[in-house]
Amino acid sequence: MAPVLGLVGSAAGGVERLLPELVEPLRQRGWRVAVTLTPTAATWLAATGDIERIEQATGLPVRWKPRLPGEERPHPPVDCHAVVPATSNTVAKLALGLADNQALTQVCEAIGLGTVPVVVFPRINAAHARQPAWESHLAALRGAGVHLLTGDDVWPLHEPRSEPGRDLPWRSIINAVLAAVET
Ligand SMILES: Cc1cc2nc3c(=O)[nH]c(=O)nc-3n(C[C@H](O)[C@H](O)[C@H](O)COP(=O)(O)O)c2cc1C
Repeated sequence: MAPVLGLVGSAAGGVERLLPELVEPLRQRGWRVAVTLTPTAATWLAATGDIERIEQATGLPVRWKPRLPGEERPHPPVDCHAVVPATSNTVAKLALGLADNQALTQVCEAIGLGTVPVVVFPRINAAHARQPAWESHLAALRGAGVHLLTGDDVWPLHEPRSEPGRDLPWRSIINAVLAAVET
């Protein structure tokens, strides 16, 4: 059976590159990719037509709203969750267990269950990292076994309103997903 990635995208730079840089390379490696977006990310990708393109490529609906209680789950069970890109907001909510949208609901549950790996790439700037609660959020997620992609080798922090000067570390993200399911 093809492994399934539950991919959550939030409203940070790089979310517009999810299809070519993450969904397609994983599909070429034989993965199925079930995409869920935060509500803000969904408005961004709906405006560009990317939601339809992702649905065509994956053969699965892109989720951003909760299902009705009587509805079937529209996505298959997953072998790994990846939150890419993760805003500072989404990281903080995950650390605190706040599940006020579909994307957070499924990842919060996965973190609590601890049966499937969770990979998170915080696409943040230096000001986000200086927020006083930031380090405790990262520590909480690490303590729960979340695979966090942080550090200067992965994503050197830039000041707000300056360009990061690099693409998202797509290769490291793909390698982290592949490594997470092997361990
Ligand atoms: C154009 C634009 C780019 C943004 N880029 C980032 C980003 O790279 N990282 C981040 O943490 N927040 C970024 N934000 C702020 C988030 O979109 C905002 O905090 C939002 O409420 C996050 O919602 P979500 O976590 O539910 O997706 C950006 C906002 C805009 C308008």
